[in-house]
Amino acid sequence: MEKTIRLELNQTTPFIKDSALEALRPAADKAAQALADNTCPGNDFLGWLHLPSSITPELLAEIKATAATLREKCDTVVVAGIGGSYLGARAVIEALSDSFAALKATNGNPLVLYAGNNIGEDYLSELCAFLKNRRFGIINISKSGTTTETALAFRLLRTLCETTRGKETAREVIVAITDAKKGAARVMADKEGYRSFIIPDNVGGRFSVLTPVGLLPIAVAGFDIDALVAGAVAMEQATAADVPFSKNIAKQYAVVRNALYQEGKKIEILSNFQPKLHYMNEWWKQLYGESEGKDGKAIFPAAVDLTTDLHSMGQWIQEGERTIFETVISVEEPNHELHVPADDENLDGLNFLAGKRVDEVNKMAELGTRLAHVDGGVPCLRLVMPALNEYHLGELIYFFEHACGISGLILDVNPFNQPGVEAYKKNMFALLDKPGYEAESQAIKARLGK
Ligand code: PA5
Repeated sequence: MEKTIRLELNQTTPFIKDSALEALRPAADKAAQALADNTCPGNDFLGWLHLPSSITPELLAEIKATAATLREKCDTVVVAGIGGSYLGARAVIEALSDSFAALKATNGNPLVLYAGNNIGEDYLSELCAFLKNRRFGIINISKSGTTTETALAFRLLRTLCETTRGKETAREVIVAITDAKKGAARVMADKEGYRSFIIPDNVGGRFSVLTPVGLLPIAVAGFDIDALVAGAVAMEQATAADVPFSKNIAKQYAVVRNALYQEGKKIEILSNFQPKLHYMNEWWKQLYGESEGKDGKAIFPAAVDLTTDLHSMGQWIQEGERTIFETVISVEEPNHELHVPADDENLDGLNFLAGKRVDEVNKMAELGTRLAHVDGGVPCLRLVMPALNEYHLGELIYFFEHACGISGLILDVNPFNQPGVEAYKKNMFALLDKPGYEAESQAIKARLGK
């Protein structure tokens, strides 16, 4: 039987009253059932719930065929997107890629770069300068098709691609992933004849990694999207509404984090002991931050890479304000084996480690850290991945998504909207004199005394 990711909660029990757990368990069952029955707030955005089991072989084949074209015609592919339109793909690609892939020959895999997730003039200038000498293609991802960061980067990249590779080739190596009908990205894709994929109406950005939004870039990078989806399907079954609390890790995670929140633990730190999981942390931060942070409530999702950040944030975690809890992602078996060499002189005093695997040192660092944090008043959840591969990443993604839906409903928010994201956009458009924002422009300039 395929191993599965598991959740360990024993280092949270001293911090949670049994009565809190008893009270929250029915809420988790109710939330999971409301998701399954399509009766919860935000139920027009529940397309992600059965996405793994409903992806058609035809769609997967089309994604793989498009990926093959990009792999054949490009040495570099730029994924243009922001938030949910790039973080999931980047999380999986970086988790599975050689850490130094960008610096060495990549076995025929194109280099995958990212744009459209910032407005840094230096970043975009340096990216364009680099791409001038590359056979590059673009995957332009935007559900709304109007997000400024992405549209601006795409305008620069498309112009460069047409100039350096010619309009005909550009048409072959630019792919759009966007709404079926609306938005500038759709209009442009249809007009220019770009190959395109649809983001379903009922799937929000941060829940879209298992649509072409995530699957196409992941396939372009050379990874097995069938295995990723298979892992997600397994987790869809393992966390279904009718799977009881005692066996359902999505319900358990949702309940424990809400119980800790009620105990005053307002910050959750996602810790990994694998640098390759850095972007998984970033994806998770968006998933939980954007889904739960509304109506003046919610756990603040923070993240650290360990042991790296034990030398920067470790002091705060150990002894700062006791309003935090931690969820550690632990990868059971690394993909490589490396032993600490013996040294006759032992000048560094490390011979006590000679012959041990580097991973054993890492695991003892993890255990030592968890024990220290618990002693310091930080409850620790532990999520164990048997290995860092497509299957278990698929499981992990779906686990976090389903738990997020349940957790947000327990918190009594609509986990599937993000009204707060519009506030900065309105001000930015007003300040930049975007047509249609004249009244806001006058108001903001008066406020700033301009
Ligand atoms: O989760 C979300 O909905 C957001 O993070 C969006 O993904 C992000 O704002 C990008 O939006 P769009 O895909 O419309 O460009």
